[in-house]
Amino acid sequence: MTWEGFPKVELHLHLEGAAPPAFIRAEAARRGVPPPPVFGADGGYRWQGFGGFLAAYEAACAVLSGPDAYARLAAAVLADRAADGVVHAEIFIAPQLIAGGDPVAFAEHWAAIRSVSCPGISIAWIAIAVRHLGPQGALETARLAAASAGLAGFGMAGDERFGHPADFAPAFDLAREAGLALTVHAGEFGGPDSVAAALDHLRPARIGHGVRAIESPALVARLAAEGIVLEVCPGSNIALGLYPDWAAHPVAALDRAGVRITLSTDDPPWFATRLSLEYAALARTHGWGPEDFRRFNRTAAAAAFCDAATRAGILARLEGA
Ligand code: ADE
Ligand code: ZN
Repeated sequence: MTWEGFPKVELHLHLEGAAPPAFIRAEAARRGVPPPPVFGADGGYRWQGFGGFLAAYEAACAVLSGPDAYARLAAAVLADRAADGVVHAEIFIAPQLIAGGDPVAFAEHWAAIRSVSCPGISIAWIAIAVRHLGPQGALETARLAAASAGLAGFGMAGDERFGHPADFAPAFDLAREAGLALTVHAGEFGGPDSVAAALDHLRPARIGHGVRAIESPALVARLAAEGIVLEVCPGSNIALGLYPDWAAHPVAALDRAGVRITLSTDDPPWFATRLSLEYAALARTHGWGPEDFRRFNRTAAAAAFCDAATRAGILARLEGA
């Protein structure tokens, strides 16, 4: 079975990280700047290790410049998701990588991004802070997010090995008080302690990745009991070296333990993936079929950062599956 036509919800996708290599090369040519040194001989993205990934990622992002470029990128990313059967996408944008977090420039970029739509797909935009740029930057990003009408949520990505979740509590408190829904990357390059501390100090509804919770049975039980939703991106975890292959990835074990699982791609061109390919690999590895993926998508619809009417629309489109 191929999965392109199967209706899907994707909760964890980075706008900048969804830029295909050809898009970044074309932007560099358009601006007359040299292409960033992030490509391998096959023309795809190339990096080494997680630190190398984040550095290459930021170098590729640096080529993106101006509201028009971001609007074109958003349109291309949405069209690509729609072609892959995604009916609702939640997309991260990083104000610190867009115009360096400058509030006036970010407002122009955000206006261009949010003006983009695509038939058949609903969207929630989530502003994220970059963890390794520090707590003050995260607080300023939260302030910017709170002041930007139309954002659904606030979150944090970047190097999880930097700082402690408590350092970022003021940013998350500000965003929560502004009515933004919360998600945070944890349990990817940090272990179970990092996930537990993120839950304790940042109180998110969802965790980006969270898969290394599997190393602590007590934490797995806590995630299940508290109904925390994991935005699991297996292909990303395998490409970044967390697990050697699909069979070793803990998504099925987390599901069996009663943790609320959803499936996403993170930065698809970086990991040579798309959501239909993730489904195909998981179907092959675990024998999962349409009923399993429908269940994950219903979990994702329930956990989506959207209003009741949008949620009802998503659920109706999923039932077509
Ligand atoms: N930013 C983009 N992709 C990321 C990932 N997988 N982990 C942390 N930060 C990221
Ligand atoms: Zn991510």
